[in-house]
Amino acid sequence: MSTRERWGTRIGLVLAMAGNAVGLGNFLRFPAQVAQNGGGVFLVPYFISFLLMGLPLLWVEWAIGRYGGQYGEHSTPGMFDHMGRYRWLKYVGVFGLFTNLTVAAYYCYLESWTLAYVWHSAIGTFSRVDAAEFFPRYLGVGADSVFALPLQALLFFPLTLALNTFILSRGLVRGIELAAKIGLPLLVVFAVVLAVRGLSLQPGDPGVVESPIAGLGFIWTPQLSGLLSPTTWMAAAGQIFFTLSVGMGSIHCYASYVRAKQDIALNAAAAGWMNEFVEVVLGGSIMIPIATAYLGLVAVQTATAGGSGFGLGFLTIPTLLNNWGWFAPLAGAMWFGLLFFAGITSSLAMGQPILAFLQDKFAMSRVRAALAFGTVTFSLGFICVWLYPGGAFDEFDFWSGTFSLVIFALAEAIVFAWIFGINRGWAEITRGADLVVPNVFRFIIKFVTPVFILVVFVGALIQPMGRAWGAAFRSLFAGEGWPFAPESVLGRILHLGDPTYAWFDALGQPTVALVQDGTRLLLLLVFLACAALVWMAWRRMEGEPS
Ligand code: ALA
Repeated sequence: MSTRERWGTRIGLVLAMAGNAVGLGNFLRFPAQVAQNGGGVFLVPYFISFLLMGLPLLWVEWAIGRYGGQYGEHSTPGMFDHMGRYRWLKYVGVFGLFTNLTVAAYYCYLESWTLAYVWHSAIGTFSRVDAAEFFPRYLGVGADSVFALPLQALLFFPLTLALNTFILSRGLVRGIELAAKIGLPLLVVFAVVLAVRGLSLQPGDPGVVESPIAGLGFIWTPQLSGLLSPTTWMAAAGQIFFTLSVGMGSIHCYASYVRAKQDIALNAAAAGWMNEFVEVVLGGSIMIPIATAYLGLVAVQTATAGGSGFGLGFLTIPTLLNNWGWFAPLAGAMWFGLLFFAGITSSLAMGQPILAFLQDKFAMSRVRAALAFGTVTFSLGFICVWLYPGGAFDEFDFWSGTFSLVIFALAEAIVFAWIFGINRGWAEITRGADLVVPNVFRFIIKFVTPVFILVVFVGALIQPMGRAWGAAFRSLFAGEGWPFAPESVLGRILHLGDPTYAWFDALGQPTVALVQDGTRLLLLLVFLACAALVWMAWRRMEGEPS
């Protein structure tokens, strides 16, 4: 039973796609990445990555999605199955199930923090309790253990999932499209209010130590020196992946509900550029400038070093907003409210491919498929809650939210340009186009994008100690071997940062290493389970009388 759903309106489609892209990555991850990677130094590789990798991948994913939709396929295994004669192609599409499911698990947990923080901001918790103390307590971090059973977090997480499940169960138009039409405009209004208020702070105002404009200048003054740093390139490319939601399988799914002759070239570009606007202009104008005003630029750079932006967003900002008097609770609720809307419009896009797969391949009703998604996401997400102190959340974030995206993007770029073929691919992208896609993108999609992703992939695999690439090559040529960084993919697998590697400590208590290895095993099993479902689905279909 294949679904026959379609988007209600073009604006609804573009808003849903933009909502998919605009997420916590735009407001928390981007500012932190910019600050960590030298401000404007980051921007040049970032925009080049957008043009050579992000935008082409958007077109590729929209094209695969609309193409698959014509065969009644709304999830990636079925779409890839139609892209060539090889039977294994559908297993490439397993990534589109695995990534969405496992990213949704930890992402919805993160999203539930924002909901909790809306509540706590509104009731004035942060005027009484230091946010820096509240955050670890909320997550259950503190006791010297890898486990946590935080009561509040365990309340808001299922609540968030229930909301996601409910919206998904209402379907494309009455669920996802409506959520995007409400969520996205509200998010932009909240962001503009906070940005204007934050940027109007001046030295001399209570608590202000530096002009917030210094924060803006730091982010927005492009500098070419980043071009020579592989580390900056990798951070920039990683941010492009995450923020556009490419390499996940969610764009394919949304695009599969587009009519065969309906434009995708302009729609894809519009959603992509909208995301960039929200990320660079709005995402860049809130957290860093406000923190710069109250803490000074140097402290902001220190605070974001090595962090993902959560620290600044959840620990620091609520306290700083206390300087805003009567407006503080409202401003806090707006900040976390905008994060919540950004989050939920993205997590819905992670759920829909799973629903579509269950509906298309196992003839499930939408409501049952939504409940199945909610239940599995809760089970996986519970691991992130329970083993948060042991690092399970970070493992999900790395293997599903970073590594897996790159592998799937690489695979789809190759399948699209080289198996499906660039001629057919180009015809797919440009059919019904309301925008003249420059011909140079044909060349970019065929050669530049796959090579670009491959370089990023290899870079992540072998990233050297201290991110010092020059020194690493000198060491290699001097016959002293390659100094893998503990945070490189190989370094993680081999636990290079953990010289006393053991699953249990001297007291027999489980260690972080055990949680890490256990989580990796779990993720591998989830991947295999997704592959097994695909296998079963095809057996089922092949057994059906045609
Ligand atoms: N693209 C989504 C974000 O930026 C996942 O958060």
